[in-house]
Amino acid sequence: MKKMQLEICCGTTCYMMGANRLLYIENEVPPELRGKFEVKALPCMGLCNDKNLSGAPYVKLNGIIIENATIEKICDKMRAMLDD
Ligand code: FES
Repeated sequence: MKKMQLEICCGTTCYMMGANRLLYIENEVPPELRGKFEVKALPCMGLCNDKNLSGAPYVKLNGIIIENATIEKICDKMRAMLDD
């Protein structure tokens, strides 16, 4: 099965708003999600400007934007994708 692609914005705004913690998501996901995704750090995606900072930190999971991303929120989206 192809791995899910998790892109974490590491621009200044997202980094300060929690992306720094998200970079370690591989160590914090539950066992059923381990090895099922690849993490990539990106520079500012430009979304913080469009949405006036309120949605940071931003990540993309298989190209789908998740705003106010937390490890829990990302895990929920991953589980939903695995169920599809
Ligand atoms: S810093 Fe993340 S979208 Fe700009």
